[in-house]
Amino acid sequence: MAVNLKGKSLLTLLDFTPGEIRYLLDLAHDLKSEKRVGKNKKVLEGKNIVLLFEKTSTRTRCAFEVAALDEGAHITFLSNSQMGSKESLEDTAKVLGRYYDGIEFRGYKQETVELLSKYSGVPVWNGLTDIDHPTQVLADLMTIEEHIKKPLNKVKLVFVGDARNNMGYALMYGCAKMGMSYMALAPKELWPDEGILEKCKIIGKATGATIEVSDNIKDVKDADVIYTDIWASMGEEEKMQERVKLLTPYKVDMDMLKATKNEDVIFMHCLPSFHDFETQVAKEAKENKGLDIREVTDEVFRSRHSVVFDEAENRMHTIKAVMVATL
Ligand code: CP
Ligand code: NVA
Repeated sequence: MAVNLKGKSLLTLLDFTPGEIRYLLDLAHDLKSEKRVGKNKKVLEGKNIVLLFEKTSTRTRCAFEVAALDEGAHITFLSNSQMGSKESLEDTAKVLGRYYDGIEFRGYKQETVELLSKYSGVPVWNGLTDIDHPTQVLADLMTIEEHIKKPLNKVKLVFVGDARNNMGYALMYGCAKMGMSYMALAPKELWPDEGILEKCKIIGKATGATIEVSDNIKDVKDADVIYTDIWASMGEEEKMQERVKLLTPYKVDMDMLKATKNEDVIFMHCLPSFHDFETQVAKEAKENKGLDIREVTDEVFRSRHSVVFDEAENRMHTIKAVMVATL
């Protein structure tokens, strides 16, 4: 069936069919090959895009900017708008819709991307909220396809850590849609919400995906992908002390990779990561509070299993695909 995504927003992968996700991944692979031989077609010439940020970012901002510029679009980076303070979200969305052909939003509430989409009249792309990160998952699926020589629906991905965070949920949606095997491996306190889990299991019934939850590290057996993320996401930094207690047994180390019994298991992370003490945050936590906040050892992060920088690169190719497909 023909896929036409023109005008569609990417608020969550739950709004996309497996065929539409497949289309975006194929397009991303094509655009990556085109860029490598210097053949960007500038298909977004004359388009204007605004990048609206409430939270900090390295990859998402830069990936949107480079992707837009590669394809000839103009961008505005906006991190100090009046939205929500001196002007309502609705009014801001209506104004931005008059200037721009597409809006990227990164911030706290999922409701904000939904309202931007409702009132702006142009495609809105979710660049991360408290509960979702769909553009990251497209990059992750693309990276899995590059590194694992079997189709997505034969891949077992284990997400280790805070399975209630944006990455835990976004990966669960992506895996459910693409017929994959997804396991949230976390202490019970951090298991995904029951209702959301059920919703994904129902999607899995149609796509062939299996969606599981465990607190037993031995269940990493047969994993093709071990995925983790920081233990306290943006906006909940004060929870780090409690998370260190809960998640230290789930730190990704070589023993965990070995327990998969898969020599070719890959390690993935959306980044940024605490894998050493070379960041101010990890260093201060260690020196001032005696906390080791690393969610992965440096050994794993730098090992042959780690594909984290391919993932980071693929943010750009997949975001480009999303813009090209929807504008
Ligand atoms: N992975 C990711 O979204 O990175 P940034 O927070 O740097 O954008
Ligand atoms: N869970 C992390 C993801 C960062 C890309 C956060 O929200 O901070």
